[in-house]
Amino acid sequence: MMNDEVHIDPWGSTQSTDYSRIIEKFGLSSMENVSLPSPSRLHRRGIVFAHRDLEMVLESQRAGNPFGVLTGLMPSGKMHLGHSMVIDQVKWFQEQGGDVTIAVADLESTATRGVSLSEGKRIATEEYVSYYAALGLDPEKTSVYFQSKRNIVQKLGFQLGKRTNLSELEAIYGFDGSTNLAHVQAPLVQAGDILHPQLDDYGGLRPIVVPVGIDQDPHLRLTRGLASKTNWFNVSSAKMGLQVGVSVQEENSAVMGVESSGRVNKEVQKKVFSRIVETISGLGYSDIMSNPKHGTVNIPSAVSKDRGIIQLALLKLEREMGGMGLLSPSSTYHRFAVGMTGDKMSSSKPKTTLFLGDDISTAEKKIKKSFSGGQATIEEHRRLGGDPDKDVAYQYMMYFFEEDDKFLEEINQGYRAGKILAGEMKQMCIDRAANWLSDIAEKRDETSHLVENFYR
Ligand code: TRP
Repeated sequence: MMNDEVHIDPWGSTQSTDYSRIIEKFGLSSMENVSLPSPSRLHRRGIVFAHRDLEMVLESQRAGNPFGVLTGLMPSGKMHLGHSMVIDQVKWFQEQGGDVTIAVADLESTATRGVSLSEGKRIATEEYVSYYAALGLDPEKTSVYFQSKRNIVQKLGFQLGKRTNLSELEAIYGFDGSTNLAHVQAPLVQAGDILHPQLDDYGGLRPIVVPVGIDQDPHLRLTRGLASKTNWFNVSSAKMGLQVGVSVQEENSAVMGVESSGRVNKEVQKKVFSRIVETISGLGYSDIMSNPKHGTVNIPSAVSKDRGIIQLALLKLEREMGGMGLLSPSSTYHRFAVGMTGDKMSSSKPKTTLFLGDDISTAEKKIKKSFSGGQATIEEHRRLGGDPDKDVAYQYMMYFFEEDDKFLEEINQGYRAGKILAGEMKQMCIDRAANWLSDIAEKRDETSHLVENFYR
Protein backbone atom coordinates (compact mmCIF):
# COMPACT_ATOMS: atom_id res chain seq x y z
CA MET A 1 0.00 0.00 0.00
CA MET A 2 1.19 3.45 -0.87
CA ASN A 3 -0.22 5.22 2.13
CA ASP A 4 0.39 3.05 5.11
CA GLU A 5 -0.58 5.58 7.76
CA VAL A 6 -4.28 5.92 8.43
CA HIS A 7 -5.04 9.53 8.16
CA ILE A 8 -8.16 11.67 8.50
CA ASP A 9 -8.56 15.07 6.87
CA PRO A 10 -11.99 16.71 7.20
CA TRP A 11 -11.35 18.82 4.10
CA GLY A 12 -9.45 16.25 2.08
CA SER A 13 -10.48 14.48 -1.09
CA THR A 14 -9.45 11.03 0.05
CA GLN A 15 -10.40 9.03 3.09
CA SER A 16 -8.87 5.94 4.71
CA THR A 17 -11.35 3.08 4.81
CA ASP A 18 -9.41 0.77 7.11
CA TYR A 19 -11.97 1.22 9.85
CA SER A 20 -10.49 -1.10 12.43
CA ARG A 21 -7.16 0.69 12.20
CA ILE A 22 -8.93 4.03 12.49
CA ILE A 23 -10.59 2.82 15.69
CA GLU A 24 -7.25 1.76 17.07
CA LYS A 25 -5.22 4.77 16.04
CA PHE A 26 -7.65 7.39 17.28
CA GLY A 27 -8.88 5.56 20.37
CA LEU A 28 -12.48 5.21 19.28
CA SER A 29 -14.84 2.64 20.74
CA SER A 30 -16.34 0.04 18.46
CA MET A 31 -20.14 -0.11 18.16
CA GLU A 32 -20.00 -3.88 18.22
CA ASN A 33 -20.85 -4.39 21.86
CA VAL A 34 -23.18 -1.46 22.27
CA SER A 35 -26.76 -2.46 22.78
CA LEU A 36 -29.20 0.03 21.31
CA PRO A 37 -32.94 0.42 21.65
CA SER A 38 -34.50 -0.43 18.24
CA PRO A 39 -31.32 -0.15 16.15
CA SER A 40 -31.72 1.42 12.73
CA ARG A 41 -30.62 0.07 9.37
CA LEU A 42 -27.29 1.87 9.72
CA HIS A 43 -26.69 0.31 13.15
CA ARG A 44 -27.77 -3.21 12.22
CA ARG A 45 -25.43 -3.22 9.24
CA GLY A 46 -22.37 -1.89 11.02
CA ILE A 47 -22.39 1.29 8.94
CA VAL A 48 -22.34 3.28 12.16
CA PHE A 49 -19.18 1.57 13.34
CA ALA A 50 -17.62 3.59 16.15
CA HIS A 51 -18.32 6.09 18.88
CA ARG A 52 -16.91 8.11 21.75
CA ASP A 53 -18.74 8.06 25.08
CA LEU A 54 -22.05 7.02 23.59
CA GLU A 55 -22.91 5.28 26.87
CA MET A 56 -23.30 8.67 28.50
CA VAL A 57 -26.12 9.48 26.08
CA LEU A 58 -27.72 6.04 26.22
CA GLU A 59 -27.76 6.18 30.00
CA SER A 60 -29.61 9.47 29.95
CA GLN A 61 -32.02 8.05 27.43
CA ARG A 62 -32.68 4.96 29.54
CA ALA A 63 -33.18 7.01 32.68
CA GLY A 64 -35.59 9.35 30.91
CA ASN A 65 -33.18 12.27 31.35
CA PRO A 66 -32.66 14.84 28.61
CA PHE A 67 -29.99 14.55 25.96
CA GLY A 68 -29.29 16.51 22.83
CA VAL A 69 -28.09 15.82 19.31
CA LEU A 70 -26.00 18.25 17.33
CA THR A 71 -24.63 17.95 13.86
CA GLY A 72 -23.78 20.29 11.04
CA LEU A 73 -23.72 20.66 7.30
CA MET A 74 -21.42 22.61 5.12
CA PRO A 75 -23.51 24.42 2.52
CA SER A 76 -21.71 23.77 -0.72
CA GLY A 77 -22.96 21.80 -3.68
CA LYS A 78 -26.07 19.65 -3.61
CA MET A 79 -27.32 17.21 -1.01
CA HIS A 80 -26.42 13.65 -1.90
CA LEU A 81 -27.05 10.23 -0.43
CA GLY A 82 -23.98 10.45 1.80
CA HIS A 83 -25.39 13.56 3.46
CA SER A 84 -28.69 11.81 4.07
CA MET A 85 -26.95 9.24 6.29
CA VAL A 86 -26.31 11.85 8.95
CA ILE A 87 -29.94 12.90 8.84
CA ASP A 88 -30.99 9.26 9.23
CA GLN A 89 -28.99 9.09 12.43
CA VAL A 90 -30.27 12.38 13.72
CA LYS A 91 -33.78 11.13 13.08
CA TRP A 92 -33.06 7.98 15.05
CA PHE A 93 -31.80 9.95 18.06
CA GLN A 94 -34.83 12.23 17.76
CA GLU A 95 -37.09 9.18 17.93
CA GLN A 96 -35.24 8.11 21.09
CA GLY A 97 -36.14 11.42 22.70
CA GLY A 98 -33.17 13.67 21.90
CA ASP A 99 -33.62 17.35 21.14
CA VAL A 100 -31.97 18.25 17.84
CA THR A 101 -29.81 21.19 16.77
CA ILE A 102 -28.25 21.45 13.31
CA ALA A 103 -25.53 23.95 12.43
CA VAL A 104 -25.34 25.39 8.94
CA ALA A 105 -21.58 25.83 8.67
CA ASP A 106 -21.73 28.93 6.52
CA LEU A 107 -18.58 30.37 8.12
CA GLU A 108 -16.69 27.16 7.41
CA SER A 109 -17.98 27.13 3.86
CA THR A 110 -16.78 30.69 3.33
CA ALA A 111 -13.41 29.90 4.87
CA THR A 112 -12.74 26.63 3.10
CA ARG A 113 -14.88 26.56 -0.03
CA GLY A 114 -15.18 30.20 -0.99
CA VAL A 115 -18.98 30.16 -0.74
CA SER A 116 -20.30 33.62 0.23
CA LEU A 117 -22.58 33.87 3.25
CA SER A 118 -25.60 34.78 1.13
CA GLU A 119 -24.92 31.94 -1.27
CA GLY A 120 -24.48 29.63 1.72
CA LYS A 121 -27.88 30.62 2.99
CA ARG A 122 -29.54 29.86 -0.34
CA ILE A 123 -27.74 26.52 -0.72
CA ALA A 124 -28.56 25.45 2.84
CA THR A 125 -32.26 26.08 2.40
CA GLU A 126 -32.79 24.88 -1.16
CA GLU A 127 -30.40 21.97 -1.21
CA TYR A 128 -30.41 20.66 2.34
CA VAL A 129 -33.02 21.86 4.80
CA SER A 130 -35.80 21.51 2.21
CA TYR A 131 -35.25 17.73 2.38
CA TYR A 132 -35.18 17.39 6.15
CA ALA A 133 -38.88 16.96 6.75
CA ALA A 134 -39.04 14.57 3.78
CA LEU A 135 -36.28 12.50 5.39
CA GLY A 136 -38.29 12.31 8.57
CA LEU A 137 -37.03 15.08 10.85
CA ASP A 138 -39.72 16.72 12.92
CA PRO A 139 -39.56 20.49 12.35
CA GLU A 140 -41.14 21.10 15.75
CA LYS A 141 -38.26 19.32 17.48
CA THR A 142 -35.38 20.41 15.25
CA SER A 143 -33.60 23.73 15.33
CA VAL A 144 -31.39 24.70 12.38
CA TYR A 145 -29.18 27.77 12.74
CA PHE A 146 -26.41 29.56 10.85
CA GLN A 147 -22.93 29.84 12.39
CA SER A 148 -22.68 33.43 11.17
CA LYS A 149 -25.86 34.39 12.99
CA ARG A 150 -25.42 32.69 16.33
CA ASN A 151 -23.24 34.99 18.32
CA ILE A 152 -22.70 32.65 21.23
CA VAL A 153 -21.20 29.99 18.96
CA GLN A 154 -18.53 32.37 17.73
CA LYS A 155 -17.93 33.75 21.20
CA LEU A 156 -17.50 30.28 22.65
CA GLY A 157 -15.14 29.35 19.82
CA PHE A 158 -13.10 32.44 20.56
CA GLN A 159 -12.94 31.74 24.29
CA LEU A 160 -11.94 28.14 23.71
CA GLY A 161 -9.17 29.33 21.44
CA LYS A 162 -7.30 30.21 24.62
CA ARG A 163 -6.99 26.51 25.39
CA THR A 164 -5.15 25.54 22.24
CA ASN A 165 -2.40 26.85 19.99
CA LEU A 166 -1.09 26.68 16.46
CA SER A 167 1.05 23.64 17.14
CA GLU A 168 -1.92 21.60 18.24
CA LEU A 169 -3.92 22.65 15.19
CA GLU A 170 -0.96 21.79 12.98
CA ALA A 171 -0.75 18.37 14.55
CA ILE A 172 -4.45 17.64 14.26
CA TYR A 173 -5.19 19.14 10.85
CA GLY A 174 -1.87 19.44 9.10
CA PHE A 175 -2.15 23.23 8.98
CA ASP A 176 1.02 25.14 8.22
CA GLY A 177 2.26 28.70 7.96
CA SER A 178 0.34 29.25 4.73
CA THR A 179 -3.07 28.22 6.08
CA ASN A 180 -5.42 31.17 5.97
CA LEU A 181 -6.68 32.26 9.36
CA ALA A 182 -10.35 31.89 8.52
CA HIS A 183 -9.59 28.23 7.93
CA VAL A 184 -7.74 28.06 11.26
CA GLN A 185 -10.80 29.53 12.96
CA ALA A 186 -13.24 27.09 11.40
CA PRO A 187 -12.53 24.22 13.85
CA LEU A 188 -12.91 26.59 16.79
CA VAL A 189 -16.28 27.71 15.50
CA GLN A 190 -17.18 24.05 15.12
CA ALA A 191 -16.18 23.49 18.76
CA GLY A 192 -18.58 26.35 19.57
CA ASP A 193 -21.29 24.58 17.54
CA ILE A 194 -20.75 21.34 19.38
CA LEU A 195 -20.62 22.74 22.90
CA HIS A 196 -23.20 25.53 22.87
CA PRO A 197 -26.37 23.39 23.17
CA GLN A 198 -25.43 22.63 26.78
CA LEU A 199 -25.31 26.29 27.75
CA ASP A 200 -28.18 27.42 29.94
CA ASP A 201 -29.85 29.41 27.14
CA TYR A 202 -29.84 26.40 24.82
CA GLY A 203 -31.19 23.61 26.97
CA GLY A 204 -28.64 23.44 29.78
CA LEU A 205 -26.22 20.80 30.95
CA ARG A 206 -26.96 17.41 29.39
CA PRO A 207 -25.08 14.90 27.24
CA ILE A 208 -24.85 15.94 23.60
CA VAL A 209 -24.15 13.41 20.87
CA VAL A 210 -22.65 14.39 17.54
CA PRO A 211 -23.43 11.93 14.73
CA VAL A 212 -21.01 12.47 11.85
CA GLY A 213 -18.95 10.78 9.18
CA ILE A 214 -15.57 9.57 10.39
CA ASP A 215 -13.87 12.46 8.54
CA GLN A 216 -15.14 14.79 11.30
CA ASP A 217 -13.44 13.01 14.20
CA PRO A 218 -10.50 15.46 14.34
CA HIS A 219 -13.01 18.16 15.32
CA LEU A 220 -14.34 15.98 18.10
CA ARG A 221 -10.87 15.24 19.40
CA LEU A 222 -10.14 18.95 19.46
CA THR A 223 -13.47 19.85 21.08
CA ARG A 224 -13.23 17.16 23.74
CA GLY A 225 -9.75 18.35 24.61
CA LEU A 226 -10.86 21.97 24.81
CA ALA A 227 -13.85 21.15 26.99
CA SER A 228 -11.86 19.05 29.42
CA LYS A 229 -9.16 21.72 29.71
CA THR A 230 -11.81 24.15 30.96
CA ASN A 231 -13.10 21.69 33.57
CA TRP A 232 -12.51 22.52 37.22
CA PHE A 233 -13.09 18.97 38.42
CA ASN A 234 -11.85 15.94 36.52
CA VAL A 235 -13.04 12.43 37.28
CA SER A 236 -10.61 9.61 36.61
CA SER A 237 -10.16 6.04 37.72
CA ALA A 238 -7.99 5.45 40.78
CA LYS A 239 -6.45 2.35 42.35
CA MET A 240 -9.72 1.96 44.18
CA GLY A 241 -12.81 3.43 42.60
CA LEU A 242 -12.84 6.92 41.13
CA GLN A 243 -10.94 10.06 41.91
CA VAL A 244 -11.85 13.70 41.47
CA GLY A 245 -8.93 15.98 40.69
CA VAL A 246 -9.33 19.71 41.23
CA SER A 247 -7.83 21.82 38.48
CA VAL A 248 -6.68 25.24 39.62
CA GLN A 249 -6.38 27.57 36.65
CA GLU A 250 -6.23 31.27 35.85
CA GLU A 251 -10.01 31.50 35.60
CA ASN A 252 -10.78 29.96 38.96
CA SER A 253 -7.80 30.52 41.23
CA ALA A 254 -9.58 33.15 43.33
CA VAL A 255 -12.63 30.91 43.78
CA MET A 256 -10.32 28.04 44.71
CA GLY A 257 -8.66 30.10 47.39
CA VAL A 258 -5.34 30.67 45.67
CA GLU A 259 -4.35 34.26 46.32
CA SER A 260 -2.37 36.37 43.87
CA SER A 261 0.71 35.88 46.02
CA GLY A 262 0.33 32.14 45.44
CA ARG A 263 -0.61 31.59 49.06
CA VAL A 264 -3.53 29.24 49.61
CA ASN A 265 -6.38 30.48 51.75
CA LYS A 266 -7.13 27.32 53.74
CA GLU A 267 -10.60 28.48 54.74
CA VAL A 268 -11.71 29.01 51.15
CA GLN A 269 -10.08 25.79 50.05
CA LYS A 270 -11.86 23.86 52.79
CA LYS A 271 -15.20 25.21 51.65
CA VAL A 272 -14.53 24.21 48.06
CA PHE A 273 -13.69 20.67 49.10
CA SER A 274 -16.70 20.38 51.33
CA ARG A 275 -18.91 21.42 48.41
CA ILE A 276 -17.35 18.65 46.33
CA VAL A 277 -17.95 16.14 49.11
CA GLU A 278 -21.53 17.35 49.53
CA THR A 279 -22.15 16.97 45.82
CA ILE A 280 -20.86 13.44 45.78
CA SER A 281 -22.66 12.37 48.92
CA GLY A 282 -25.81 13.81 47.36
CA LEU A 283 -25.46 11.04 44.78
CA GLY A 284 -25.62 8.42 47.51
CA TYR A 285 -21.95 7.68 48.22
CA SER A 286 -20.98 7.57 51.87
CA ASP A 287 -17.31 6.63 51.77
CA ILE A 288 -15.62 9.78 50.50
CA MET A 289 -12.01 10.76 51.17
CA SER A 290 -11.22 14.42 50.77
CA ASN A 291 -7.59 15.43 50.43
CA PRO A 292 -7.32 19.20 49.84
CA LYS A 293 -3.54 19.11 50.11
CA HIS A 294 -3.29 16.80 47.10
CA GLY A 295 -6.19 18.47 45.37
CA THR A 296 -8.14 15.21 45.22
CA VAL A 297 -11.30 13.58 46.48
CA ASN A 298 -11.53 9.80 46.36
CA ILE A 299 -14.65 7.65 46.04
CA PRO A 300 -13.43 4.07 46.53
CA SER A 301 -16.83 2.46 46.05
CA ALA A 302 -17.56 4.15 42.72
CA VAL A 303 -17.19 2.03 39.58
CA SER A 304 -16.32 3.20 36.10
CA LYS A 305 -19.89 3.33 34.92
CA ASP A 306 -20.67 5.86 37.67
CA ARG A 307 -18.26 8.28 36.09
CA GLY A 308 -20.86 10.01 33.93
CA ILE A 309 -23.25 10.79 36.73
CA ILE A 310 -20.47 12.06 39.00
CA GLN A 311 -19.07 14.19 36.21
CA LEU A 312 -22.46 15.73 35.50
CA ALA A 313 -22.98 16.58 39.16
CA LEU A 314 -19.54 18.21 39.36
CA LEU A 315 -20.09 20.19 36.17
CA LYS A 316 -23.28 21.49 37.70
CA LEU A 317 -21.30 22.48 40.79
CA GLU A 318 -18.69 24.15 38.61
CA ARG A 319 -21.40 26.22 36.96
CA GLU A 320 -22.77 27.25 40.35
CA MET A 321 -19.27 28.38 41.28
CA GLY A 322 -18.90 30.46 38.12
CA GLY A 323 -17.25 28.09 35.64
CA MET A 324 -18.45 27.07 32.20
CA GLY A 325 -19.10 23.47 33.23
CA LEU A 326 -18.70 22.00 29.76
CA LEU A 327 -19.28 18.28 29.25
CA SER A 328 -17.17 16.63 26.56
CA PRO A 329 -19.41 15.70 23.63
CA SER A 330 -20.23 12.12 22.72
CA SER A 331 -20.12 11.10 19.07
CA THR A 332 -20.95 8.36 16.61
CA TYR A 333 -19.24 7.72 13.29
CA HIS A 334 -20.49 6.27 10.08
CA ARG A 335 -18.54 4.70 7.25
CA PHE A 336 -18.68 6.22 3.83
CA ALA A 337 -20.59 4.58 1.05
CA VAL A 338 -18.31 4.06 -1.90
CA GLY A 339 -18.76 6.48 -4.80
CA MET A 340 -20.69 5.05 -7.75
CA THR A 341 -17.57 5.00 -9.87
CA GLY A 342 -15.62 3.21 -7.15
CA ASP A 343 -13.91 6.46 -6.03
CA LYS A 344 -14.82 8.71 -3.11
CA MET A 345 -18.33 10.14 -3.19
CA SER A 346 -18.16 13.86 -3.83
CA SER A 347 -20.64 16.63 -4.64
CA SER A 348 -18.21 18.14 -7.08
CA LYS A 349 -18.12 14.91 -9.11
CA PRO A 350 -21.76 14.19 -10.02
CA LYS A 351 -20.97 10.76 -11.44
CA THR A 352 -19.79 9.53 -8.05
CA THR A 353 -23.10 9.90 -6.28
CA LEU A 354 -26.84 10.20 -6.47
CA PHE A 355 -28.20 13.58 -5.49
CA LEU A 356 -31.50 13.68 -3.67
CA GLY A 357 -32.78 15.85 -6.50
CA ASP A 358 -31.71 13.49 -9.31
CA ASP A 359 -34.55 12.42 -11.58
CA ILE A 360 -35.16 8.78 -12.20
CA SER A 361 -33.57 8.55 -15.62
CA THR A 362 -30.38 10.22 -14.32
CA ALA A 363 -30.28 7.79 -11.41
CA GLU A 364 -30.87 4.88 -13.75
CA LYS A 365 -27.97 5.94 -15.97
CA LYS A 366 -25.62 6.34 -13.02
CA ILE A 367 -26.50 2.96 -11.57
CA LYS A 368 -26.15 1.23 -14.95
CA LYS A 369 -22.65 2.67 -15.26
CA SER A 370 -21.73 2.09 -11.63
CA PHE A 371 -18.78 0.01 -10.53
CA SER A 372 -19.72 -3.65 -10.51
CA GLY A 373 -18.57 -6.56 -8.39
CA GLY A 374 -19.49 -8.98 -11.15
CA GLN A 375 -17.21 -11.02 -13.39
CA ALA A 376 -16.23 -10.06 -16.92
CA THR A 377 -18.50 -12.59 -18.65
CA ILE A 378 -21.74 -14.26 -17.69
CA GLU A 379 -20.11 -17.65 -17.94
CA GLU A 380 -17.39 -16.63 -15.46
CA HIS A 381 -19.91 -14.97 -13.17
CA ARG A 382 -22.01 -18.13 -12.97
CA ARG A 383 -18.90 -20.14 -12.24
CA LEU A 384 -17.00 -17.80 -9.87
CA GLY A 385 -19.76 -15.60 -8.44
CA GLY A 386 -19.72 -11.87 -7.80
CA ASP A 387 -18.43 -9.74 -4.93
CA PRO A 388 -21.21 -7.79 -3.19
CA ASP A 389 -18.63 -5.94 -1.06
CA LYS A 390 -17.40 -4.19 -4.20
CA ASP A 391 -20.67 -3.98 -6.05
CA VAL A 392 -22.03 -0.45 -5.93
CA ALA A 393 -25.59 -1.53 -6.73
CA TYR A 394 -25.58 -3.96 -3.81
CA GLN A 395 -23.85 -1.48 -1.50
CA TYR A 396 -26.39 1.25 -2.26
CA MET A 397 -29.26 -1.07 -1.45
CA MET A 398 -27.54 -1.94 1.81
CA TYR A 399 -26.73 1.67 2.76
CA PHE A 400 -29.82 3.43 1.46
CA PHE A 401 -32.64 1.68 -0.31
CA GLU A 402 -33.45 -1.70 1.21
CA GLU A 403 -34.85 -2.03 4.73
CA ASP A 404 -35.29 -5.81 4.72
CA ASP A 405 -32.22 -7.52 6.20
CA LYS A 406 -33.34 -10.98 5.13
CA PHE A 407 -33.79 -9.99 1.53
CA LEU A 408 -30.35 -8.37 1.50
CA GLU A 409 -28.79 -11.49 2.91
CA GLU A 410 -30.48 -13.56 0.20
CA ILE A 411 -29.21 -11.41 -2.65
CA ASN A 412 -25.79 -11.25 -1.04
CA GLN A 413 -25.60 -15.06 -1.04
CA GLY A 414 -27.16 -15.30 -4.47
CA TYR A 415 -24.61 -12.92 -5.91
CA ARG A 416 -21.67 -14.71 -4.36
CA ALA A 417 -23.02 -17.99 -5.71
CA GLY A 418 -23.31 -16.57 -9.20
CA LYS A 419 -27.09 -17.04 -9.26
CA ILE A 420 -27.72 -13.31 -9.50
CA LEU A 421 -26.02 -11.51 -12.37
CA ALA A 422 -24.50 -8.03 -12.16
CA GLY A 423 -27.15 -6.64 -14.49
CA GLU A 424 -29.89 -8.13 -12.31
CA MET A 425 -28.33 -6.59 -9.21
CA LYS A 426 -28.27 -3.22 -10.93
CA GLN A 427 -31.88 -3.55 -11.95
CA MET A 428 -32.94 -4.29 -8.36
CA CYS A 429 -31.04 -1.22 -7.27
CA ILE A 430 -32.58 0.91 -10.01
CA ASP A 431 -36.09 -0.14 -9.00
CA ARG A 432 -35.47 0.72 -5.38
CA ALA A 433 -33.63 3.94 -6.11
CA ALA A 434 -36.49 5.04 -8.36
CA ASN A 435 -39.01 4.42 -5.58
CA TRP A 436 -36.83 6.09 -2.99
CA LEU A 437 -36.13 9.18 -5.08
CA SER A 438 -39.71 9.69 -6.19
CA ASP A 439 -40.89 9.23 -2.62
CA ILE A 440 -38.42 11.88 -1.42
CA ALA A 441 -39.36 14.28 -4.22
CA GLU A 442 -43.02 13.89 -3.38
CA LYS A 443 -42.50 14.36 0.34
CA ARG A 444 -40.24 17.33 -0.29
CA ASP A 445 -43.07 19.05 -2.16
CA GLU A 446 -45.61 18.10 0.46
CA THR A 447 -43.47 19.49 3.29
CA SER A 448 -42.10 22.59 1.56
CA HIS A 449 -44.29 24.83 3.73
CA LEU A 450 -42.48 23.49 6.83
CA VAL A 451 -38.95 24.52 5.84
CA GLU A 452 -39.07 27.87 7.64
CA ASN A 453 -40.10 26.10 10.86
CA PHE A 454 -36.66 24.52 11.14
CA TYR A 455 -35.00 27.90 11.55
CA ARG A 456 -35.29 28.65 15.20
N1 TRP B 1 -17.52 20.44 9.32
C1 TRP B 1 -18.77 19.83 8.97
C2 TRP B 1 -18.71 19.41 7.49
O1 TRP B 1 -17.75 19.60 6.84
C3 TRP B 1 -19.93 20.74 9.21
C4 TRP B 1 -20.10 21.10 10.67
C5 TRP B 1 -19.99 22.34 11.20
C6 TRP B 1 -20.40 20.23 11.76
N2 TRP B 1 -20.24 22.33 12.52
C7 TRP B 1 -20.50 21.06 12.90
C8 TRP B 1 -20.60 18.87 11.88
C9 TRP B 1 -20.77 20.53 14.16
C10 TRP B 1 -20.88 18.33 13.13
C11 TRP B 1 -20.95 19.17 14.26
O2 TRP B 1 -19.67 18.87 6.98
